[in-house]
Amino acid sequence: MYLSLYRKWRPRTFDEICGQEHITSILRKQCDTNRVSHAYLFCGTRGTGKTSSAKILAKAVNCENPINGNPCNNCSSCKAIDSGSATDVLEIDAASNNRVDNVRDLRDEVVYPPSVLKKRVYIIDEVHMLTDSAFNALLKTLEEPPEYVVFILATTEINELPPTIISRCIRFDFSRIDTEAVNKRLVYVAEQEDIHLADGSAELLAQLADGSMRDALSLLEACSNGSVGELTTETIRNVLGLAGDETIYSLLSAISDKNVPVAMDIVEQVHRSSKDISVFIDDLSLAVRDIIIEKQLVKFGKRGKLKSEYLNVCEKFTPEQLFYISSVLEETQSRISRYSVNKRVVLEMSVIRMCDKTVSDSPKALAARISELEKRLAVLSATGLNKNFIETESIVETPEIIKSEENVATKDISHERIPFPNISEIYEFISDNPSLLSFLKKSKVYLQGDVVIIASEQFTIDMIKIESGNMLNDAFVSTLGKSVNITFEEAKQETKNESQVSFMDEL
Ligand SMILES: Nc1ncnc2c1ncn2[C@@H]1O[C@H](COP(=O)(O)OP(=O)(O)OP(=O)(O)O)[C@@H](O)[C@H]1O
Ligand SMILES: [Mg+2]
Ligand SMILES: [Zn+2]
Repeated sequence: MYLSLYRKWRPRTFDEICGQEHITSILRKQCDTNRVSHAYLFCGTRGTGKTSSAKILAKAVNCENPINGNPCNNCSSCKAIDSGSATDVLEIDAASNNRVDNVRDLRDEVVYPPSVLKKRVYIIDEVHMLTDSAFNALLKTLEEPPEYVVFILATTEINELPPTIISRCIRFDFSRIDTEAVNKRLVYVAEQEDIHLADGSAELLAQLADGSMRDALSLLEACSNGSVGELTTETIRNVLGLAGDETIYSLLSAISDKNVPVAMDIVEQVHRSSKDISVFIDDLSLAVRDIIIEKQLVKFGKRGKLKSEYLNVCEKFTPEQLFYISSVLEETQSRISRYSVNKRVVLEMSVIRMCDKTVSDSPKALAARISELEKRLAVLSATGLNKNFIETESIVETPEIIKSEENVATKDISHERIPFPNISEIYEFISDNPSLLSFLKKSKVYLQGDVVIIASEQFTIDMIKIESGNMLNDAFVSTLGKSVNITFEEAKQETKNESQVSFMDEL
């Protein structure tokens, strides 16, 4: 019979459970000294060993020849429990037996001593699925169970359990398994299964599994199925639709060079290769984080995780630029998850913003622009060019700042800013373009003399600029009967976060 890897490699002793030593050591000790409690609650993230531990515990309390509290897995009790033929060990899946009747049956049964084994063990998995009345019935049994009964409740959703149940059990919290422990187990299982892991493959899988051993083993299986020879990180990336480091660092490099065409090409490639854009953004964020950490470590003469072939990308950015990119990526990801937008278009817009920081007026973007200017000045003065040259150069480099100041100056300060009076006419005018309409509706529109001010989130502003063409201008001209200047203003967020405040202070 074919068993998937994670089922085949279910741990069979407490010692085989990885990364939960804080739990297994206690359970083993209790079994060893015969001080087993009557009710346990195993909670925590999925795929971390709750059900496995419950089965091991059921065997350990009944084993005829336990070894330091571990079940022997060889005696008739262990074998009967493993094969599911032991009538004294009952596994109940609360997801499908959640009614009060099921629990009542259980309550009626509990009064009979075990027929063959030492203890009657009830494993109630997914216990949070029980109905309220089923919980109440269970509570009665948990209160005064006969001494030959052991309850083991398991759940991922501790918050959905009534406190009365929780307080009657010894509770163990199964934590996410750390990457190192997952890594080691993967190497072990691969060896037993004759799967050859290339350098870095186990690490990559462990990282992707995010603390779940079941996920780690499923990923290993998915990636090694049908592949011949060594399992490389490249195969893993291909099977799972992850972009390679190459792609990620080329994109970052294009961003630092402000090379929009190359950057767009890379986004197009990612899109065409049917890699998931959200996963790609996560990968980009991780790479940016690695670079930020590397930059800090280098100051102390240390090295981080960044591969040496990408150190040159690291040198292209100032820390402020990296923080800016990281904040844009974060925003992009949350936009994608909040709205059902075209992921590719959103990524393209964000990449353009990252390439051309002058498009954004956020404090982080300003800080990034200033730090870039400082870097250029430092290079110029280091190369011994005279001061005059530096000054003209820096003026040439900052037209956008001047332009935006001009914009402010052109706003007619003799007029007060008022909410745009005939906004419904504007809506009417652009109703042929529903996406422009919806983005404009998300914005605040003001009139100040001859200036129309559209205030919104940066993303909305970008979308209005892309969508509108001449339409918006025509709308205002026809509504007001005169020519106007349209300016955009990034709407202030209600609560500034700390980093923004400190950037503002510095500015
Ligand atoms: N701590 C661990 N050590 C070794 N293998 C583990 C561990 N946790 C999980 N596994 C592997 O994952 C599989 C599933 O584990 P298990 O059923 O115990 O997880 P669980 O915590 O009950 O998950 P769920 O919450 O989804 O029910 C096991 O068969 C085993 O292969
Ligand atoms: Mg389970
Ligand atoms: Zn045994």
